[in-house]
Amino acid sequence: MSDLIVNTIAFVQEKLEGAEAGHDWFHVERVWKLSQKIGETEKCNLQIVELAALLHDIADPKFHNGDETLAIEISQNFLHSQNVSENVIREVLFIIKNISFKNRKEMPESLSIELQIVQDADRIDAIGAIGIARTFNFGGFKNNLMYHPEIQPNLYLTKEEYKKSGGTTINHFYEKLLLLKDLMNTKKGKELAEERHHFMLRFLEQFYKEWEVC
Ligand code: ADP
Ligand code: NI
Repeated sequence: MSDLIVNTIAFVQEKLEGAEAGHDWFHVERVWKLSQKIGETEKCNLQIVELAALLHDIADPKFHNGDETLAIEISQNFLHSQNVSENVIREVLFIIKNISFKNRKEMPESLSIELQIVQDADRIDAIGAIGIARTFNFGGFKNNLMYHPEIQPNLYLTKEEYKKSGGTTINHFYEKLLLLKDLMNTKKGKELAEERHHFMLRFLEQFYKEWEVC
């Protein structure tokens, strides 16, 4: 492993100490590994992929009063301190800026392959068993209800409504998690998403069965 990656890991681990369990170092580590797995199947610059995966949640606006520029600033300063070339810095910052699900309606037309890879990796960690666990953890963190039979999901949330996160955790499956399978960019991403998607459907079926006590 290069010195740059070793230093980046140490930097991210320190920054994310005490983070909510769904957006902590272990989430980043999984996204980093998934990015490499997907990256191996595509023609891409792996250094950009790895750096962006490691830095993508360094300052999530959700946990920083909605500040969408902080992550860019922190990453830029860090990469400069490591003497990374301007070209690579530009590509990495582009990914961090555009990776988020809530920004998907304002995405630039053309996405670099490196962005597509890291975005798929981040989305794969949002689904399946891990995705379910992260989602309930976040819901608990926000003190949201797990489920309410009379509160319907809102599939057409604006970015602002989506960010408020006041809905139930089960509704988040319909507002985001179940949509991800069809939003995968890469072939490998689609493949990895399939099993996890079906696991969530099975989970929901069982959840409703137990809720109804039948
Ligand atoms: P991104 O990081 O791509 O912008 P989000 O911040 O919307 O995506 O979500 C990241 C993860 O945080 C989700 O996959 C989910 O686990 C959790 N999360 C976000 N919003 C909610 C919510 N309203 N209820 C439950 N979990 C949520
Ligand atoms: Ni993430």
